[in-house]
Amino acid sequence: MSDVVLELKEVTKTFGQGDTQVKALSDISFSVKRGEFLLIVGSSGSGKSTLLNMIGLLDRPTSGQVIIDGKNTTKLSDNKISEYRNSKLGFIFQFSNLMADLTVLENVMLPRSIQRKEQNSQKEAAELLRNVGLENQMHKRANKVSGGQAQRAAIARGLVNRPTIVLADEPTGNLDSVTAETIVELMKSMAKKLNQTFIIVTHDRHQFGQVDRVITIKDGRAFEGEDMPPQMELTT
Ligand SMILES: Nc1ncnc2c1ncn2[C@@H]1O[C@H](COP(=O)(O)OP(=O)(O)OP(=O)(O)O)[C@@H](O)[C@H]1O
Ligand SMILES: [Mg+2]
Repeated sequence: MSDVVLELKEVTKTFGQGDTQVKALSDISFSVKRGEFLLIVGSSGSGKSTLLNMIGLLDRPTSGQVIIDGKNTTKLSDNKISEYRNSKLGFIFQFSNLMADLTVLENVMLPRSIQRKEQNSQKEAAELLRNVGLENQMHKRANKVSGGQAQRAAIARGLVNRPTIVLADEPTGNLDSVTAETIVELMKSMAKKLNQTFIIVTHDRHQFGQVDRVITIKDGRAFEGEDMPPQMELTT
């Protein structure tokens, strides 16, 4: 198994046509290794969500390649691409998006039933819920837990398929700063414990403290480390 789990090659995304055309991503190339905890930062409208949608196989690039676990996904049909998405990627959203009528445990098991990998699903979902500190909440209905607890459950749900990459768009955006901090620590500890790659879009890089890598998006272009213009440090 290769150490590289994601490779972007000259990814470009253009929305619209003619006068109203917007180039949301320009020529983005980078790769990510197993276990890396990567932040994508940048101002509003810079292209962060568009980039995450490309990596998450929720949208296709106008040109360039998205290679996940060695497979060039740009060549896959729509059916194959959703299959590949379900098996390789886990998602955590800004709002936990739990199904209100199901229990916390049932919510965490959902990605497994979608994939028809139900063997041991309850046991593994319960184990993840213990890991995120919800051992006493798992049989409650999802609409009866707090926002922070719901987001913990969403993290467990994002991990239950043992995805190659977990993707999160503003996973703490809907939480107060104290709860947000515990969610950040939880994601970082799960990343270490499971050697799990996380790619997280955030407005607030400081909330995340020390992380493996930070990629800054500015006007649809990606900058990392020494490539980043120094004045950008002040604005992100
Ligand atoms: N479906 C779409 N159709 C047309 N333009 C789009 C679409 N999605 C995004 N854009 C444009 O692409 C650019 C990047 O948008 P994107 O949503 O990726 O920004 P963002 O960095 O996630 O912003 P925010 O921090 O506000 O969430 C913006 O100019 C936006 O208006
Ligand atoms: Mg966004």
